[in-house]
Amino acid sequence: MRAPVNKLIRGFSRRGISRFCMPGHKGKRYTGCEKLDVTEVLGVTDAYTESERYATEIFGTAATLYSSEGSTLSIKAMLAILKKQKPEGRLTILAARNAHRAFLYGAAVLDADIIWLYPEEYTHLSACDITPKRLRTALTECDPTPDAVYVTSPDYLGNILDVKGLAEVCHEYSIPLLVDNAHGAYLRFLEPSLHPMDLGADMCADSAHKTLPVLTGGAYLHINKSAEHLVADAREAMTLFASTSPSHLIGASLDRCNSYLSGTYPKRLEKCIALIDKVKSRLQAHGCPTESSEPLKIVLDPRKYLYTGVGFSKILRKFKIEPEMVDDEYAVLMATPDNTLRDYLRLLLAMRYIRKNPELRELPELAPITPSAPARKMSAREAILAPHELISTDDALGRVVGAPTVSFPPCVPILVSGEVIGSAELELLKRYGITSVEVVRE
Ligand SMILES: Cc1ncc(COP(=O)(O)O)c(C=O)c1O
Repeated sequence: MRAPVNKLIRGFSRRGISRFCMPGHKGKRYTGCEKLDVTEVLGVTDAYTESERYATEIFGTAATLYSSEGSTLSIKAMLAILKKQKPEGRLTILAARNAHRAFLYGAAVLDADIIWLYPEEYTHLSACDITPKRLRTALTECDPTPDAVYVTSPDYLGNILDVKGLAEVCHEYSIPLLVDNAHGAYLRFLEPSLHPMDLGADMCADSAHKTLPVLTGGAYLHINKSAEHLVADAREAMTLFASTSPSHLIGASLDRCNSYLSGTYPKRLEKCIALIDKVKSRLQAHGCPTESSEPLKIVLDPRKYLYTGVGFSKILRKFKIEPEMVDDEYAVLMATPDNTLRDYLRLLLAMRYIRKNPELRELPELAPITPSAPARKMSAREAILAPHELISTDDALGRVVGAPTVSFPPCVPILVSGEVIGSAELELLKRYGITSVEVVRE
């Protein structure tokens, strides 16, 4: 498959052109990538059109658009596309509570109302187990019917929702299903595909950079063939939130990825998953259980090894392993076909060390948390746009959340702007180690 963006940019940089144009480094070496870091060279728009057409074919969508600003941009664009379907009146979106901060900011800017869907059982702020049955019940209770449903699958911990079942329920109500598939671009290449576009979702955002060989920031916005009427507004919706100076290095990386995805990738992915399964079995056999998760994640519970999150990550780093995320409840490792055998070997050695050398004598209690909707004093939009002050969590009882309180990663709001911090909410903040909160100034 051709890579037109790469061809154009490489051709430009080879011709030794005098660059009286942006960017200011003029192609001189500062970090090493400047030669290929170009601005709007002649023909670049056509090159992207062609490249995105290849991506559209690969993902089997009505349209696949590139983002060089992550799923953060694609998520906001999905909401803007919806808004364009309803120019008068406010959007209402029924959303699973584990939404990434990008969703919240997008909704605030577009003045959309959010109805939160909570999990039946609270496991972690990143997880929100919404079943089709639960969604149907929630939709029955909504009057009027919301304009769309928004879920995250896979989530940061590797849980996958029944997207097919959720899409069917949405379509019974004639509303679209939007999926934050930031962690699941690769799902298209499983046999059979588990990608939201193949399971009936109407739009989804994929962070190509999280699971595919793409530079950080490279992402897709996909629109399903069954939702073709949304395509016309997609480009402008991206423009609404995007920089006018996209990184063509990231664009070229998405462009290059097409040939990989349409070539050897599915086979390499299959082999990689078989290897990860083998590693998980080996860990299990050595008394190191892993948690269930989507195939490219290895998820461990530090508590099962008598470790705190901090202690657990310290040992992983001692064995030269950089995990994606570790807290007291979960350690998330993300793998792709580009991990090497040495990487897995280090993990086996680190886990053997961890199992044999517990950090704690006994497990500290983690208070169970019941999912509940905090009281709300103002809309998310009002609270986000209001003046804020940063205060200690200890002084936050009764205050209204200004900036969404997220632990980073996974950047999922523990409390959402406009909500009142009650005693249960204080407990939740402390559980996730949040020591200061940005509240609305009184
Ligand atoms: C579930 C989820 N959604 C969205 C995002 C935002 O993606 P990006 O970093 O590509 O903007 C992230 C980032 O980690 C994420 O974990």
